[in-house]
Amino acid sequence: MNDGEQRSFGPLGRVLVIIPTYNEAENLVPIVRRVRASVADADVLVADDNSPDGTGKLADDLAVEDPSVHVLHREGKEGLGAAYLAGFRWGIDNGYDVLVEMDADGSHQPEELPRLLTALKSADLVLGSRWIPGGRVVNWPKSREFISRGGSTYSRLMLGVTIRDVTGGYRAFRKETLLGLGMDDVASAGYCFQVDLAWRAVKAGFHVVEVPITFVERERGDSKMSRNIVAEALLRVTGWGISSRAARFTGGKPAAVGEAVPEDDGDEGADADADPAVRLHVGPQADGEADAAITAEAGRPSPS
Ligand code: GDD
Ligand code: MN
Repeated sequence: MNDGEQRSFGPLGRVLVIIPTYNEAENLVPIVRRVRASVADADVLVADDNSPDGTGKLADDLAVEDPSVHVLHREGKEGLGAAYLAGFRWGIDNGYDVLVEMDADGSHQPEELPRLLTALKSADLVLGSRWIPGGRVVNWPKSREFISRGGSTYSRLMLGVTIRDVTGGYRAFRKETLLGLGMDDVASAGYCFQVDLAWRAVKAGFHVVEVPITFVERERGDSKMSRNIVAEALLRVTGWGISSRAARFTGGKPAAVGEAVPEDDGDEGADADADPAVRLHVGPQADGEADAAITAEAGRPSPS
């Protein structure tokens, strides 16, 4: 059962957009400007892992110019997951209520952020989704799409969640969601960090909603995707799947099983800007509408 519609959600409060960076010198200034232009009252935190190309220094310069920009300097490259966890903690300690994940390379368009935030008004976690109707990817090689779609499908099957884009990295969390999903023992370093957090949110009973996004492949700089990152994801997801099944047999808490989600391909690119107030289709059918947001899993968070 999905109780997202019946629940009343508190106001969003202060928003922090966390941008993890490793060698993003060419991308940093444009992305921060776009965020500030798109959501004027959101602050930005750049979480830089001591990038050799001087991204951290550029971030400091931006912070001097604009008091809404903050920088978290980390000692060395520890992976996307570690950078986000440090950013979430920084944000919560500094009084932010909503924590947004966004890549620095322009793949996650800041102009779509208002739609994610609108959806968060009636959700605990919003996932920007490439693989629901209205969502899409621009300029990706087929091989990369195959890995990403395959990763999402494998994770869904292994973990029993219905989220279509479970590896995506454009997300908005309420602070309470992060605090309730057990952030402190997340060990995932690479991209499986995204699967880890989504799965934890579903298991904890949070109301998770997917909103279609257009993911634009980076034009400048290099992806940090590597064989190791894919291997870590495969190993961890397989391990989680096996242990959750084992737990079911031994009387542990069953893994979350969500509702059916439409199979529609939704090939057309939804005009993201046209409809800032996304409709939230809660339930199994979204009629393949371009702006459909799909509920992945439901239930009231268990007090813990
Ligand atoms: N601080 C820090 N440390 N940042 C990092 C690190 C790191 O070790 N590794 C990557 N980043 C930053 C990049 O600088 C960029 O801003 C963002 O994390 C995403 O890295 P990319 O290398 O551009 O990732 P991608 O495009 O291959 O992957 C995207 O799609 C995946 C799903 O297909 C990301 O959104 C992933 O989160 C997502 O899982
Ligand atoms: Mn990228």
